[in-house]
Amino acid sequence: MNNYFSIQDIDCLNEWIEEAIKIKNKPLVDKTLGEDKTIGLLFFNPSLRTRLSTQKAAFNLGMNVIVMNFTDQGWSLEYGDGTVMDQGNSEHIKEAAQVVSQYCDVLAIRAFAKLENREDDYSENVLKSFIKYASVPVINMESATSHPLQALTDAITITEHKIIDKPKVVLSWAPHPKALPQAVANSFVEMMQRMDADFVITHPKGYELASQITKEVPIDYNQENALKDADFVYVKNWSSYEDYGAILHQDPAWRITEKKMKLTNDAKFMHCLPVRRNVVVDDAVIDSQNSIVIEQANNRTYAAQLVLKKILEKV
Ligand code: CP
Repeated sequence: MNNYFSIQDIDCLNEWIEEAIKIKNKPLVDKTLGEDKTIGLLFFNPSLRTRLSTQKAAFNLGMNVIVMNFTDQGWSLEYGDGTVMDQGNSEHIKEAAQVVSQYCDVLAIRAFAKLENREDDYSENVLKSFIKYASVPVINMESATSHPLQALTDAITITEHKIIDKPKVVLSWAPHPKALPQAVANSFVEMMQRMDADFVITHPKGYELASQITKEVPIDYNQENALKDADFVYVKNWSSYEDYGAILHQDPAWRITEKKMKLTNDAKFMHCLPVRRNVVVDDAVIDSQNSIVIEQANNRTYAAQLVLKKILEKV
């Protein structure tokens, strides 16, 4: 594997999940694989889990890690071809990507959607430009439209916790005070279509995700109906795709409560974190025995380690 850009880069999902669980059981088994190799983590947005779990994964493989917060520490980058650079941007992606490739054997990039222009965000210009101009492999640590490390983590976590072969998995929208990208939801939807799951999406009208991503996945606009008999409830806010980036409403009736969880088949509660308590989900749910959000966050290390291992085996 050259780059980990999306979950389409996973050739055999079941084998990947199995290998990630083996890594989790023996995280230091490949501790010399990355010896004398350096990964550069470039952040255009904040992070807790992605930053620390990817560093931990790299350490478990014996790698050196360089981290840079680009937004406040790097030169502002220009992506346009042939641009006369007499405005705000100081450095072109052509030099920046080639230069960081001199210092690193692998790059990992986080660059969220700006939520200003759907075509710009869905063109994935930032990640694709790094891939185009870097001379080393590139890992997506959440781009404008996808979060494939999170989706791999979620697949691992569901596999570990499922007690039937084909669990019912519900992705529920929930309110949030800020407009959030669709990246996590997009990748989760794509991942659930690759897993053996009875998968349903529930959200208020107007929050439909891109149809090229949801394809034939059923959408139930009645959250309580969707939650019935669920084995896993995955909760996430996203802003509108159709009215791009808009918050259409913040109806608190969509918050996940104990009463709603009682409709499920004793479902596990999942969220990628960070989460707004008592806005997205009640304390009583996230603090309950059925909440697996911390285990989910723990699995971020093993998803990242598996991806890094596959890349290192090729460099
Ligand atoms: N879930 C996730 O990507 O967390 P961070 O934004 O903290 O990295």
